[in-house]
Amino acid sequence: MSIVYDQEQKTITLHTKNTTYQMQVDRYGFLLHLYYGKTAEGCMDFLLTYYDRGFSGNPYDAGTDKTYSMDSLPQEFPSLGTGDYRTPACIIKNTDRTYCSDFRYVSHNIKDGKYVLEGLPAVYASDEEAQTLEVMLEDRVTGVRAVLLYGVLPEYDVITRSVRIINASSGHISVKKLAPACLDMVGGDYDFITFYGRHAMERNCQRLPIGHGVSKIGSLRGSSSHQYNPAVIMAEHEATEDAGGCYAMAFVYSGGFQSEAGKDQYYQTRLLMGFSEEQFAYPLNAGEEFQSPEVIMSYSSEGLAKLSQNLHRCMRTHLCRGKYKEVVRPILLNSWEASYFDFTGESLLKLASEAAELGMEMFVLDDGWFGKRDSELRGLGDWKVNEEKLGCTLGELIGKINAMGLKFGIWIEPEMVNEDSDLYREHPDWAFVIPGRRPNRSRHQLVLDFSRKEIVDYIYEQICAVLDQGNVEYIKWDMNRSIADVYSATADSQGRVLHDYVLGLYDFLERLVKRYPNILIEGCSGGGGRFDAGMLYYTPQIWCSDNTDPIDRLEIQYGTSFIYPASCVGSHVSASPNHQTARSTTLKTRAVAAMAGTFGYELNLNELSAEEKEEIRQQIREYKKYAALIQRGLYYRLTNPQTDNQGAWEFVSEDQREALVQVVGIKKHANMTVDYIKVKGLKENTVYRDTESGRLYNSTALREVGIPKPVLNGEYKAYQWHFVQED
Ligand code: GLA
Repeated sequence: MSIVYDQEQKTITLHTKNTTYQMQVDRYGFLLHLYYGKTAEGCMDFLLTYYDRGFSGNPYDAGTDKTYSMDSLPQEFPSLGTGDYRTPACIIKNTDRTYCSDFRYVSHNIKDGKYVLEGLPAVYASDEEAQTLEVMLEDRVTGVRAVLLYGVLPEYDVITRSVRIINASSGHISVKKLAPACLDMVGGDYDFITFYGRHAMERNCQRLPIGHGVSKIGSLRGSSSHQYNPAVIMAEHEATEDAGGCYAMAFVYSGGFQSEAGKDQYYQTRLLMGFSEEQFAYPLNAGEEFQSPEVIMSYSSEGLAKLSQNLHRCMRTHLCRGKYKEVVRPILLNSWEASYFDFTGESLLKLASEAAELGMEMFVLDDGWFGKRDSELRGLGDWKVNEEKLGCTLGELIGKINAMGLKFGIWIEPEMVNEDSDLYREHPDWAFVIPGRRPNRSRHQLVLDFSRKEIVDYIYEQICAVLDQGNVEYIKWDMNRSIADVYSATADSQGRVLHDYVLGLYDFLERLVKRYPNILIEGCSGGGGRFDAGMLYYTPQIWCSDNTDPIDRLEIQYGTSFIYPASCVGSHVSASPNHQTARSTTLKTRAVAAMAGTFGYELNLNELSAEEKEEIRQQIREYKKYAALIQRGLYYRLTNPQTDNQGAWEFVSEDQREALVQVVGIKKHANMTVDYIKVKGLKENTVYRDTESGRLYNSTALREVGIPKPVLNGEYKAYQWHFVQED
C-alpha cells in the first residue's frame, strides 16, 4: 500500500520506493504538511512547533491559545484569509466579494490507479502501478470546496498533485489564483534552480539561494515560453549531481504559469507551482467546478542526476503516449534550414532523394507549402496545399517520397493567422484583438481564439483535409508567437480565456492523436517556446531550439536535461557556418551534439562534398547503433558546459552493461592541459571495453579519476566512447 491513513494520528502518508510524503488533519481540521523526503516511518508531527509569535494571529477556534497560527504552520493548500500572510496557493473571490477561503478537512478516499483529468494532459498508470488520494476540503461559510488530488507512482518516486475547486456555494465565484502544488518546508536551506532563456537560447540553468522574500518565475505569454520553463528544482545548498536532497516540480501545462519560492519570517520555505495570476480569474457559477492541471513532483536524496532520472522515466513511460513512445524515432531530414520558403516540388524531391541515399528515414516538409505562404508575411490560416508551387498534389509528392523509401512529415501552425490570408479576410473576429485597439503583431501574425470551439473545429477540419491527402506519418506542430490582446467575443469573463485557449489546443491535439494514431507529432514553438510536460502528452518529442549551433546546444540541452528525457529533445545536424551564430564546427561535432536527442538533419544536402556525404552515412549507421540506449538509458550530466571546458554527458543502460559518453570541447588554449571526464553509473570495479578502440577500462578508475580527453588541435572537437562490459 503506497497510501496509508492512520486514524489515531490523523495522518495520511504517501510512500514511494525511496520517499515519504506525510500530511495531517489537525485538531481544527486544517490540513498540515508534515514531511516530504527520504523514506520515513511513523508520525512526523513532532516537526511542528507552537510559539506565541507577535503579529501572527490565531484562528478563532484556537480560543486563547496564542501559539497556534496558520502564519507559521506548514500547509498542504494555503489560502488567503486564514491568518497565513505568506504567498497563498489559492485565492477565491466569493459571492459576497470577499477574498477569504478557510478550507478545512471534510473527508478523504484512497483508490487504486491514478486519477484522470478530463480534457487535460496527465501522468497515467495502471491500477497496479499507482494509487490516488483525494482529500476534500471545504470552506464552511461559503460552501466552496477544494478537492486535493495526489497520484502516487511508487516505482518512479513520483507524486503528482492537482486540485479541483467546486462551487458548492449559492452564487457566482471567481478563482483568482490557483497553484495545485505547494511544498511547505519547516527547516532547511535551499537553492531555487530555474531554467530561463530567450528565443534560440532556451533553458539556461540558474541556481540561486532561496532568501527572504519571494522569488518568482513564470510566463504571461499564454504559453509556457522560451523565457522561463514551467519546471523548477529546490535543492539543498550542498546538493550536487551525485549527493544531497532535491525536489522537482514540473507543471503538466502549456499555458501561462508561475512558480514562487521564498523564506518566511521564521526561515521556513514555501514552494508553489501553478497558473500565472495575471489575466486569470476563472468564473464559476453555483454548481460548477474547475479542474487544475497537475504538477509532477519528485524527491531525490541522492542528488540531481537521480532526480532527473526519476522525471525522465516517468515522463517517457507514463506521460508520453502512442506508437512512438518507446520506438526509436525515424532519422529525419527537415527542409527548413535547407531551403526555408524557397523551394519547388522538384527541389524538394532532389533533397529527399539525397536524404534517402544517405540513409535517412523521413522527409519533413517545413513551412511554405500552403496558401500564398512564400514568406512570413502571409498565408497562415489558409491550409490549402499550394499545388502550383509543388507542381503536383500533396498526395503525389508524398507518393514519390514514399517510393524513395522515406516516410513523409509536414509542418503546420494551426493556432495562427496572417492578416494577409483568406481566413482573416473572412473572419477578422477570429483572431485575438481587443475591440477599439490595434493588436500587437509578432512575426506578422495574430493568434486565433482557440478558446472558441467553432474556431478549433474549423481549423481541425482544414488540417485533417490536408492530412487525408496522403500517407503523412509525422507532423511538426508550431506556434510562433506569444499571445497578446486577449479578448474573446463569446466569453462570459475575459479571465478564463487564456486557460480555455489551452483547453482548445489540447482538445485539438487529442482529436488528432486519436484520429491518426500512427502519426508522430513533434511539438515546436519557435524551437523550445512550449517545451513542457503538458505538450509531451500529445507530442512525444519537441523541437528543442531554433538554435542548431552545436556549441550553444550544449548549454540548451544541458538545462533541458534536468527535467526532460533525451527521447523528447528534437535535435538536428545543420550547416556550418551555423545559420544562427555563424560559428563553424565539424560535422562530427554537430552530430555528437545532435545525437543527444531525436536525431536528424536540417541542411541542404546537395551542397555537401562526397566526403561529407560519406561521413553522414557513417553517422547514421552509428546513431542507429546507439539510438535505443540514448532513448531509454539513464542520463548523467558529466560537466556543466556553462562553466566547464567542455560539455559532457552519458547514457547508461538500466542493467549498467553499456554506456555512451559524449564530449564536446568548448575552450581551447595553446599547450592545452588535459581534462579528465569522470564517467558515472557503471558497475563497481568492472572492466569495460570501448567498442571503437577495443581498449579496456576499469570503471572505478573511470569514475574516480576519469577518462582523459584527448588534446587535439582546433576548437570544438567532439569525442565519444561506447563502453560495453567485458564478460
Ligand atoms: C519556427 C520553427 C522552425 C521553422 C519555422 C518555420 O521558427 O521553430 O523550425 O519551422 O518556424 O516558419
